[in-house]
Amino acid sequence: MLSQEENDLITKVGPGAPMGELARRFWTPLLLASELPAADCDPVRVRILGEDLVAFKDSNGAVGLLEAWCPHRGADLFFGRNEEAGLRCVYHGWKFDVAGSCLDVPNAPEGATFREKVRARAYPAVERGGVVWGYLGPPESVPDFPEMEWTRVPDSHRYISKMFLDCNYLQTMEADIDSSHLGFLHSYVKGGTVVGRAVIDGRANGIEDFAAADRAPSWTVKDTDYGAMLTARRDAGDNYYWRVNQWMIPFYTMIAARPGDTVLCQVKVPVDDEHAVAFRVRWHADRPLTPEELAVYRDKGVLFPEMIPGEFRTRENKANDYRIDRAQQRHYSFTGIKSIPAQDFAVTEVQHGGPVSDRTRERLVSSDAAIIQVRRRLLRSVRELQEGQEPPEARNGGAFRVRSLDLVMPKTATIENDAREHLVARA
Ligand code: FES
Ligand SMILES: [Fe+2]
Repeated sequence: MLSQEENDLITKVGPGAPMGELARRFWTPLLLASELPAADCDPVRVRILGEDLVAFKDSNGAVGLLEAWCPHRGADLFFGRNEEAGLRCVYHGWKFDVAGSCLDVPNAPEGATFREKVRARAYPAVERGGVVWGYLGPPESVPDFPEMEWTRVPDSHRYISKMFLDCNYLQTMEADIDSSHLGFLHSYVKGGTVVGRAVIDGRANGIEDFAAADRAPSWTVKDTDYGAMLTARRDAGDNYYWRVNQWMIPFYTMIAARPGDTVLCQVKVPVDDEHAVAFRVRWHADRPLTPEELAVYRDKGVLFPEMIPGEFRTRENKANDYRIDRAQQRHYSFTGIKSIPAQDFAVTEVQHGGPVSDRTRERLVSSDAAIIQVRRRLLRSVRELQEGQEPPEARNGGAFRVRSLDLVMPKTATIENDAREHLVARA
């Protein structure tokens, strides 16, 4: 449970809001790189951290990120013409480059000298790891780039899906952190018993079954120099089943993955206080994704949701109750909702009746340990920044080179002694 003041501190993300200021100390994922496919391509609207921006790629291939409202009289630069190394406002023809410099004021005789005095608000932007990133913080302190494994592998090793959500970033991120919902929300039903997906898929000894078998794991949460390491330990006969998720400040969660398997990172970027954009990233550290893996991600609608063509919106959405199928819910899956992300969205997009969960009304228990810890960490960072202390993680991109882990080990083994090498990024 949080006080109203604490809830506001970590959910409000606009310019000047404490969490908004903290998030602005880091590089922020904005778009898929494929949305700006070539020099002089169409500009794209970006709303992020409560600001309206327009992104474009100029004639030289440099990415520009400008405030959407033209410095002249506030027309929307999204309608601009992307031409000859700049974006030209279609209202009166003023033109700006990626740095925000005004190149042309063609509608007034004083334009040639006047243009030196005009600037569009511009933010640094780069393309990396299949994503366009922007930095919306103080210009004098551009942060390190977070060296997450998925940003460092070749494009062939990675698949990303982007989707908009109608809720605050924090509640959707909290679902990523909370692995205690695994044995419920994402489980299946067979012969009246709740089971893991491996049983349904007919895979022998699928270890995700242990999540369904022991539904009250014991939690260890460790503060780290990138965020927090969240370990859930479940009983698995003679062994323990370990799931280690990595939460990285400000809004990344790497979901437990078996060594040698593909890994999933959930990125939940605040659009504004009541909206978020999710990037669901799956990659393999050592090899390209196979055609079979890509077909599963693109076409099956389970690991990745089916999307409305031409939109970054899931077909299963709030307006259609995520296409819940009550017959399926009785006999096949715990929720009756097909895709795993939509299962999460159904329980997080509206909490306490709105897009911002009212955390003053919660009744937390010990299995909420990871969420409690991450909130504390965010509150601490927000308050430190209010007192003038910059977040050290923004100056330590190398600290993000970690991995998540999903492993069964004998009861005598520990993560620290026996699985440490699996927690280090391979790329
Ligand atoms: S509003 Fe953009 S040039 Fe006039
Ligand atoms: Fe989930």
